[in-house]
Amino acid sequence: MGNTEVMWKLVALIAYLSFAQAVPKKFTSTKLLNSPDPSDTESLVSLPLQLNSPGQGAILDYGHEVAGTPYLMVTAIDQPVQLEVRYSEELSGLDSPFGDGPFPFSVGLSSTFRTETFNVTSPGTIHSYFIQGGQRWQSISQLTEGTLTIAGAGFEASIQYQNPEDLPGHFECSNSAYNEIWKLGALASTAACVEAGSQRATWEITPDGALIHGQKPALSALGNTFSEYTLSFSTKILRGGAGWAQAQTPSLTGLQLLLTSELEEDTTFVNTNTTITPPNSIALAYGYSFVNQSTLPSFYLDNFEIPFAIKEDTWYNIDATLLSDSTLTVAIDGTEALNVSLSDYGVSLGNQYDPTALPGTGSWGFGPWVDQVALYANISVAAQNGTELYRNSLTDEAVLAEYGVARNNATVCLDGPKRDRLVWLGDFFHTTRIIPASTARRDHVLGTLQLLLDWQNEEGLLPIDPPMGTDPLYAPQVGGYLGLADYQTLGLLAFTGYFELTGDMDFAQQLWPGFQKQTSWLISQINTTTGLAEISGFTGPASGTATSAMLVQALNEAATVATALNDTASAKNYTTTASNLADAIDTSLWNEDLGIYSTSLSAPSNFSVADISFAITSGIASHNTTRLTSLLAALEQLSLGPGYKDTSATSTTDPTVNISPNINGFLLSALMRANATMPAKFLLDTLWTAMIDDDATSTGASWEYVNAATRGPGLGLFTSLSHPWGGAPTYILPQWVAGVRSVRAGYEEWVIVPGLGFNVTSASARVPTRFGELSVSWEAVGEILSVNVTAPEGTKGRVELPGVAGRELGMWNVNGKDGKGGEKIELGAGKSSVTFDMRDS
Ligand SMILES: *[C@@H]1O[C@H](CO)[C@@H](O)[C@H](O)[C@H]1NC(C)=O
Ligand SMILES: *[C@@H]1O[C@H](CO)[C@@H](O)[C@H](O)[C@H]1NC(C)=O
Ligand SMILES: *[C@@H]1O[C@H](CO)[C@@H](O)[C@H](O)[C@H]1NC(C)=O
Ligand SMILES: *[C@@H]1O[C@H](CO)[C@@H](O)[C@H](O)[C@H]1NC(C)=O
Ligand SMILES: *[C@@H]1O[C@H](CO)[C@@H](O)[C@H](O)[C@H]1NC(C)=O
Ligand SMILES: *[C@@H]1O[C@H](CO)[C@@H](O)[C@H](O)[C@H]1NC(C)=O
Ligand SMILES: *[C@@H]1O[C@H](CO)[C@@H](O)[C@H](O)[C@H]1NC(C)=O
Ligand SMILES: *[C@@H]1O[C@H](CO)[C@@H](O)[C@H](O)[C@H]1NC(C)=O
Ligand SMILES: *[C@@H]1O[C@H](CO)[C@@H](O)[C@H](O)[C@H]1NC(C)=O
Ligand SMILES: *[C@@H]1O[C@H](CO)[C@@H](O)[C@H](O)[C@H]1NC(C)=O
Ligand SMILES: *[C@@H]1O[C@H](CO)[C@@H](O)[C@H](O)[C@H]1NC(C)=O
Ligand SMILES: *[C@@H]1O[C@H](CO)[C@@H](O)[C@H](O)[C@H]1NC(C)=O
Repeated sequence: MGNTEVMWKLVALIAYLSFAQAVPKKFTSTKLLNSPDPSDTESLVSLPLQLNSPGQGAILDYGHEVAGTPYLMVTAIDQPVQLEVRYSEELSGLDSPFGDGPFPFSVGLSSTFRTETFNVTSPGTIHSYFIQGGQRWQSISQLTEGTLTIAGAGFEASIQYQNPEDLPGHFECSNSAYNEIWKLGALASTAACVEAGSQRATWEITPDGALIHGQKPALSALGNTFSEYTLSFSTKILRGGAGWAQAQTPSLTGLQLLLTSELEEDTTFVNTNTTITPPNSIALAYGYSFVNQSTLPSFYLDNFEIPFAIKEDTWYNIDATLLSDSTLTVAIDGTEALNVSLSDYGVSLGNQYDPTALPGTGSWGFGPWVDQVALYANISVAAQNGTELYRNSLTDEAVLAEYGVARNNATVCLDGPKRDRLVWLGDFFHTTRIIPASTARRDHVLGTLQLLLDWQNEEGLLPIDPPMGTDPLYAPQVGGYLGLADYQTLGLLAFTGYFELTGDMDFAQQLWPGFQKQTSWLISQINTTTGLAEISGFTGPASGTATSAMLVQALNEAATVATALNDTASAKNYTTTASNLADAIDTSLWNEDLGIYSTSLSAPSNFSVADISFAITSGIASHNTTRLTSLLAALEQLSLGPGYKDTSATSTTDPTVNISPNINGFLLSALMRANATMPAKFLLDTLWTAMIDDDATSTGASWEYVNAATRGPGLGLFTSLSHPWGGAPTYILPQWVAGVRSVRAGYEEWVIVPGLGFNVTSASARVPTRFGELSVSWEAVGEILSVNVTAPEGTKGRVELPGVAGRELGMWNVNGKDGKGGEKIELGAGKSSVTFDMRDS
């Protein structure tokens, strides 16, 4: 037997293991759909599960975030039975008709809907059409008469799940809550990062056109600048209806239209909500969808009855025209079905980035409503003078990558697995620091940053949130570079941060030309009059502390990369530019009366968590202890509920105010650097524990937002409960509690300073480095601190006793040799054992 065969078997086994199915850990039985209680273990049932009347069902608990294509194994059935299945990250989502969805912001190569209905007709395994991107809970309810046996259920994994306990990086300490908190970012970045090819196309191209299942309309990449057009297409409804969108603005809102069939009994599920989709009608909405979703408003404008039956399995020709005076007309097979003025509904069509664009400018797209299926073909788009602007038969696979529904070519990290499932540029600051401390998946970081560079524009800008299903060749038409300019800086920091933690030269070399170009753009945004960055966005306004200080940090970190690559000219430019920018911040933005760095020149009395965080991590505030001290004192004014509210202007009484673990993650780093142990401990103990305290909301992964008043998920059911941007403690705990930090890129040189202020008596961490594994463990017994280090060849470092910098050490012992005094103990590769007597230091 050849080695090749053995190797292939191994590869197959590894592939099988790493994409193993996720199966539920717990089944809770039937009739529990209203307010199920996860602690109600009495109602636990085991497989096989027998269902024999409508209203029966089960709740499945997967124990933590899982992702993949749902399946149900039915072993016996006596007649066709309709089953409704719901998915949710938090348990209470199962009580809602749409689960914790829908997610109409983007198509994400997954299901928009979190509820689906099956018509089960015979024994066998049923698969969902779509991937469900992320959930812990699932419910199954029987809708119609009959008896069936379910012998298994689960998800065919769409991610490479690994138990956070078994990752290359590791952290553990005497506080078990911190151990669970460490795992949050590790699991979130496991669940949010997807391998090339693992997310399949969501449209099926047939000789008759594109077969599309209920999903947010996927948009053509080519129509963004089109206005006053007539969109014509043919559609054949296979179940329920056919939907489309027009005038989609860059913020992904616009017109939504839905043609509903006569709803033949043979194909209509009994749970079909005909309030939204009455038979033989066109529903019209403006916004993201036909139903509201927390931060994504939708306005159901009207419903138009069609004066004839809309048959399923029958082709219809649709012509839809939107003019800039807001007149909308739709004709079906040449018969006018609606003719309205959108202004009568109070809709004003606009384009946030281009005020000169004609009202109603924007692309078109196709996608039916939940559980519906339709074929679409022969698209044409024409100007009002009759000129054809676009034509596509939807019979060629190439169309998938134009509409953003093609199988993903790149290994990338998304913002989160359940939604938005976009490559959000500004989200990766924490992700690229979490990965080296946990999964060590270099391919996840490299793939993400390379995809962003594949979309880079002429000016050097990276796209804010490119989709994984669109070919980057459409970048010029899709655009998406505007708004949130600070995401550019955060993107650069994602690159530099990964280099700092890994010292990975090949990585740096591959990405350097692109990031260098992006850095030049960032430098060009510095105002020559004020010396401050004209960069605004998520973290703060232009000419402000957060966005300028963040750029100081990014430029200094970029200089480190430039130096490593022998690009000394760039390194010098970046450090000089950073130093000038830092001086401008110190001079113009420090408010002596309030003892704060101001949010901006035009808001001198305001300050924010991001201002304070980046003023510290950029090194600006640490030059001056007076300023640092007053800044930390001012922070207390932002304390709200479990963390710190974004800005001094944020309401303290509004019950919808959220605490951002992303922004508080920047802060956590800053507090550690400033030795501000008490507020850092406060954040760990109250903000991050919110994600682990309640079994009904915890997923084992870090959250997008935490509500200030309730400590529950911040955006209701919409909240991503698996968001790497909320997982900062995964890299901060090893660095500041276990205390092992890189001093020279990639831990070539390291320092260990045990984090004694955290009410932790022992801690250990394992850090994968390019030299091998670096591990440390320490324990404080009474006044004796012992530290064990195992360092790989090629590295060296030192151990310091916290708080003794500048002071002499007391009695110490290194590998059996006693000593006294000094500031630190220098160590080389191999195993070392250090003991300090803290009584006399
Ligand atoms: C379910 O399947 C049965 C058997 O094929 C069929 O008769 C019935 O019309 C289907 N119901 C729906 C709602 O699709
Ligand atoms: C049907 O949809 C309407 C409009 O969204 C909603 O108010 C109603 O609660 C829904 N009914 C059910 C049973 O889900
Ligand atoms: C969504 O919420 C807005 C504002 O609360 C409301 O005006 C609108 O009618 C709602 N839309 C739907 C579809 O319920
Ligand atoms: C027709 O309209 C299109 C789009 O507005 C324009 O580009 C084209 O020049 C027009 N053609 C004629 C013949 O006016
Ligand atoms: C994936 O690569 C193929 C081959 O280059 C290309 O045709 C397709 O458009 C790409 N798809 C995406 C989503 O980039
Ligand atoms: C630079 O700052 C000055 C002074 O605040 C302002 O007038 C000018 O518009 C700014 N320039 C840019 C390009 O924003
Ligand atoms: C940088 O220059 C040094 C000294 O000339 C050389 O040893 C090293 O290989 C260079 N590094 C790179 C990345 O070119
Ligand atoms: C840095 O380079 C930019 C061009 O990218 C140039 O405009 C700027 O003057 C340089 N700054 C310094 C301090 O050398
Ligand atoms: C430190 O900051 C304080 C308060 O703004 C200021 O009075 C003092 O001059 C600063 N010290 C130095 C060395 O810059
Ligand atoms: C310190 O840790 C101990 C043991 O885990 C715990 O009982 C105690 O409440 C903690 N104290 C503080 C201030 O966190
Ligand atoms: C350090 O290593 C020694 C010898 O293996 C072991 O006995 C001791 O428990 C270790 N201490 C810590 C803090 O890990
Ligand atoms: C924090 O403490 C360390 C010694 O443990 C010291 O080197 C450092 O300067 C301190 N940082 C600040 C900002 O006080």
